[in-house]
Amino acid sequence: MAYVKEAVAKLVPLSKIEHKAVELLLDAAFGRDRIERTAYKVRAGVAPIASLSFAALGGGELLGTAQSWPVLLKPHHSPAQRLIMVGPVAVRPDAQDHGIGQMLTDAICEELDSRKLSATMIGDPEYYERFFGFVSGPAGGWTLPGPVEPHRILLRAVPGADWPAEGTLGPDILRSAR
Ligand SMILES: CC(C)(COP(=O)(O)OP(=O)(O)OC[C@H]1O[C@@H](n2cnc3c(N)ncnc32)[C@H](O)[C@@H]1OP(=O)(O)O)[C@@H](O)C(=O)NCCC(=O)NCCS
Repeated sequence: MAYVKEAVAKLVPLSKIEHKAVELLLDAAFGRDRIERTAYKVRAGVAPIASLSFAALGGGELLGTAQSWPVLLKPHHSPAQRLIMVGPVAVRPDAQDHGIGQMLTDAICEELDSRKLSATMIGDPEYYERFFGFVSGPAGGWTLPGPVEPHRILLRAVPGADWPAEGTLGPDILRSAR
């Protein structure tokens, strides 16, 4: 039976949720082969940023999760630039299409805006452009540590920020999670 939106109680920090429960939800949303995806390689070896990672709870159950990670863009001819990688955003299959993905991503975007942080993600532009201001195109020339369709590399830049059209994206292993 499909989940009903009215039962969604709240967002909480993802750090409040047991790791195993998060992994099971991600398996349900993306499949167990998800860890082979390029997105996982981009932020290999770093911990999620606690203040930019959320869980959606409803009726005492975990319905969705969203994580953010510290990553680094290394342009070919200029110094490395730090940014945030958002994702995965995942909603339990029986709870999808009830606004939970938007709640989770909105919470991250509000925090990004208040801290004036630019972010990238690998995702469907039809969803993330439409609702959240991520843009397909400017980051399409970036190199990632695995295959990716260029139009799925999205960028949500702070107004006025200058992001190079080329560079290699990877984990920011020196940055502590906050
Ligand atoms: C993608 C996902 C996070 C969206 O969250 P959600 O709670 O199901 O969706 P929301 O209720 O916030 O938004 C619903 C709207 O977004 C649209 N939408 C949902 N997923 C979409 C997608 N992948 N691409 C384009 N549009 C999408 C729906 O059609 C709906 O549009 P409507 O309001 O015009 O009917 C969730 O469905 C999910 O976890 N899916 C499995 C993982 C996945 O396929 N991810 C692909 C994106 S990286």
